[in-house]
Amino acid sequence: MTYLAKNYNRKKLAFAKGKGSYLFTSAGTKYLDFIQGIAVNSLGHAHPRLIKALNYQSKKLWHVSNAFIIPEGEELAKKLVKKTFADYVLFQNSGTEATEAAIKIARRYFFSIGKPKKNRIICIKNSFHGRTIAAIYASGSKKMTEGFGPKVQGFDHFNFGDHKKLKKLITKKTAAIMVETIMGEGGIKVIPDWCLKGLRRLCNKKNILLILDEVQCGIGRTGDFFAFDKSKVKPDIVPIAKGIGGGFPLGAVLMNKKVAKGMVAGTHGSTFGGNPLAMKIGNEVMNVISKKSFLNNVKKNSNYFFNQLNKIKEKFPKLIKEVRGKGFLIGLQLYKDQTNFIRDLMKNKLLTIRAAENVIRILPPLNVKKKEIKQALKIINKVCLQHK
Ligand SMILES: Cc1ncc(COP(=O)(O)O)c(C=O)c1O
Repeated sequence: MTYLAKNYNRKKLAFAKGKGSYLFTSAGTKYLDFIQGIAVNSLGHAHPRLIKALNYQSKKLWHVSNAFIIPEGEELAKKLVKKTFADYVLFQNSGTEATEAAIKIARRYFFSIGKPKKNRIICIKNSFHGRTIAAIYASGSKKMTEGFGPKVQGFDHFNFGDHKKLKKLITKKTAAIMVETIMGEGGIKVIPDWCLKGLRRLCNKKNILLILDEVQCGIGRTGDFFAFDKSKVKPDIVPIAKGIGGGFPLGAVLMNKKVAKGMVAGTHGSTFGGNPLAMKIGNEVMNVISKKSFLNNVKKNSNYFFNQLNKIKEKFPKLIKEVRGKGFLIGLQLYKDQTNFIRDLMKNKLLTIRAAENVIRILPPLNVKKKEIKQALKIINKVCLQHK
């Protein structure tokens, strides 16, 4: 008997504790966790530095209203600005709040310069920007919006890669293009760097804003701080969440000074957004992840993982269609439905999660050890033999 609403299709499995890359049931059964809360526990479970930060702040101050200065938030905002394209940061508690705020910031910018009718946002069809009422209509997915009408207006959609349609959608009313730099739920589809550059050029030409949703792919997940870093593109607005909290609920929107002008006092707010507890932990996550040596290590280990996965793909050409993604945002695309494959990985004590297009999402913590990657590869190979 459960008193929880039935909006999740939960596995019959519960965990009592986590350590690094592993989860343990109350009976002590050990699972290699390559879901990590869906790219949330960026430093694995129970990271000593995050425990220390949480303990320290829990004894000092948990919550204070945004009516006051929150020094821990000032510090984290400074770190994010110094590390990225951004000039300002607005803290939230989750990814969906961050994408909602990103939409508000874009619209408010054009309102503030006397163009209130420039308010439409172009998004990729079947993308994922969260579950609030606006975010589901931004995602343009029938599955997510069914039964939640009336439709929230203001979003236009094109299919991933359909540049012609995208150009056609742009009108005088377009305020922004909002895309995930790497589509997570949508099947680990990477927008190539040349395409990101093209998007930036297009936005400049048409006087529209570029919003890159880095909620899932950001904060070191790809081996770069942001998934778009290598492209050298400077977006206007970037919502983040997941990895920045290392397991503690934390979201944020990064923005440049041009768009920040619209967000004057009273335009947005959040009771919990930017609370001292979340901020303290976010600071510690930043201290670890933003280091070049840390990110280089992600790249090194991820290269090894990708090489080995591609070797497995060559061994099972009728089973594995593609190895997709970047860094530790990895998609193993099968020719067939992936449900049973994921179930069998789990039977072998490796946790992974599905994405669209028959993709198995593999999301180790960023500090995963090579021997843990080897363990995962062994299990994947074994399950491939069962499914070939
Ligand atoms: C790209 C992207 N944007 C937004 C969200 C929503 O984040 P949250 O579930 O924290 O609200 C997600 C969550 O998976 C995501 O992957």
